[in-house]
Amino acid sequence: MCFGWPAAHEDDAERALRAGFLIVDSVRGLAGSGGATLAARIGICSGSVVADKREHEAAPRLLGELPHVATWLEGQAGPHEILLSGRARALVRGTIEVEARGERRPAGGGRTIEVLRALRPSRTVSRFDRTAEELTPLVGREAEIEALRGLWAQVREGRGQFVLLSGEAGLGKSRLVQTLRAYTAGEAHQRLVCQCWPHFRNSALHPLLEATMRALDIDPETGASERLARVEAALAALRVPLQETVPLFAAVLAIPLNDKYAAPQLSPDLLKNRVQEALIRTVMALAAQRPTLLVVEDLHWSDQSTLELLELLVARMEDAPLMVVATSRPEFAPNWPARPHLHRLALRRLSPHQTAAMVALAARGQALPEALVEQLVARADGIPLFVEEITQTAAEVWQREGREADVRKASSALAAIPATLQELLLARLDRLQEAGREAAQLGAVLGRDFTYALLRHASDRDEDTLRTGLMQLVEAGIVRAEGSEQAARYVFRHALIQEAALGSLLRPRRQYLHQQATRAILGQFPSSPSCSPSCWRTTSSRPATASARSSGSRRPGRRRCSARPTPTRCRTTRGRSRCCATGPRAPRATARSWRCSWPSARR
Ligand SMILES: Nc1ncnc2c1ncn2[C@@H]1O[C@H](COP(=O)(O)OP(=O)(O)OP(=O)(O)O)[C@@H](O)[C@H]1O
Ligand SMILES: [Mg+2]
Repeated sequence: MCFGWPAAHEDDAERALRAGFLIVDSVRGLAGSGGATLAARIGICSGSVVADKREHEAAPRLLGELPHVATWLEGQAGPHEILLSGRARALVRGTIEVEARGERRPAGGGRTIEVLRALRPSRTVSRFDRTAEELTPLVGREAEIEALRGLWAQVREGRGQFVLLSGEAGLGKSRLVQTLRAYTAGEAHQRLVCQCWPHFRNSALHPLLEATMRALDIDPETGASERLARVEAALAALRVPLQETVPLFAAVLAIPLNDKYAAPQLSPDLLKNRVQEALIRTVMALAAQRPTLLVVEDLHWSDQSTLELLELLVARMEDAPLMVVATSRPEFAPNWPARPHLHRLALRRLSPHQTAAMVALAARGQALPEALVEQLVARADGIPLFVEEITQTAAEVWQREGREADVRKASSALAAIPATLQELLLARLDRLQEAGREAAQLGAVLGRDFTYALLRHASDRDEDTLRTGLMQLVEAGIVRAEGSEQAARYVFRHALIQEAALGSLLRPRRQYLHQQATRAILGQFPSSPSCSPSCWRTTSSRPATASARSSGSRRPGRRRCSARPTPTRCRTTRGRSRCCATGPRAPRATARSWRCSWPSARR
């Protein structure tokens, strides 16, 4: 099984793990024929592979070392065990409890692999709580913190406030919420944290129901009568009418009723409305007791019923000591009517100065040379998550090699995108349709910024497809457009996403695009190819003639088409599997490198 193909998600490793736990649970206890017991053994690893998909085959062939590692891990696992590689573990840190099984070398050679056993999912409240091991001291955000504190002061006086906190992934929305939580911690108040998950988008009211179960300390092991007793006790303490409300909570929390209550006989729609109403009344009852902070994380993954509930709540909470803080990425922008107590707070990226300060703090006491800090600032683009991840990599490389290595050597070791960011970046690219993805890849070859005219010259697509692709990139927030029509210029909003787009190309396709780009530049600037230095530098690491030579028999202006490249050899470069093709060069490759979390299971 390969997670991440045909489209990457930012939680692919977690999906693989959840599938692993489900398989083990389903197989455990199944009786085999003749009284034999069945057991599942699972191996999960993560990294890049080349997926070679042929037209007549349902699934791609996966090339590279990863499938072998997964099979080897599976072979090492005992009955009902899930074994993970260290790299896969890094991607699911905080989501599971693990037991170290030491470093092992697969039979037949290869590199040593850190092996861990997944024990059980860990109980965490929000995505942020999982990752927050050692927080980098907060940089900037003074105005936002001041604004949130001011609103909380009003909430304590009985004036409800609803804050929609938006910003790109990794910009620090949850960190701000965490800062507010820490600020309010010393005061008498109640707090409820709801987390929207991508995999529960279709599960009505999941964030609120999950938070309710947590608040009532209900888990799968809690017995049915105990669950009902806890719901009753909690609602009674809030003075909510029990006869009406307990059956509604019981219905959505799958708790069997006793004979004190009648099960609601309602259509699904009516039941949903009543449950929404009951949840709102419960939250208002909580607030009536003490100022209440309700956090809803990642609204862009919310189900429709939760959104409806929040819209109803905004309309009713103006005079309640209740503060709702909901975070979301920019793709979610509800068109709720304006209200005096509804505040939209959009986070901006850190300034270069703030980014440099954060690099220094994220290096955890390691003094990095100024030239390296400058590169990190440029690569991180003011996004705190990127700052943390790439600075951590930089600090490790510098500690290992810094004394002997010069800055150039250390910074070239940073060229690879940290594994923890790969899923996030590739998922953004894979959400695009084909035209958008192709425009991103060709644009990435042209450089951090490129003009429409240059893209048009370099592309063999028609104008409509190109414009559609570019529009998708702008809408997805991957590039920023400047100017209009033929004079338009596009700028990748993150250096790292440009690099991820480049990294998603197989070598033959990448070489082909480099040649197209080189020809386009020479066509546009025939007498002085160096007049567009940024383009020239990023387009080809070799002079145009050498680049053209490397294409073998191909001459400028002439393209050979082939159905697909023939992957014949794979090797690993800086931890990424790349595939080299022989045979005809491939202008449009059907194989590409994928980042996968790969559980391998057998019964
Ligand atoms: N201003 C800041 N100073 C220092 N560290 C920060 C700052 N903002 C965020 N961070 C750190 O950057 C990382 C990413 O932040 P956070 O998780 O809050 O981003 P987010 O906007 O919630 O992302 P997502 O959309 O994925 O939920 C965290 O480790 C956080 O502690
Ligand atoms: Mg967050």
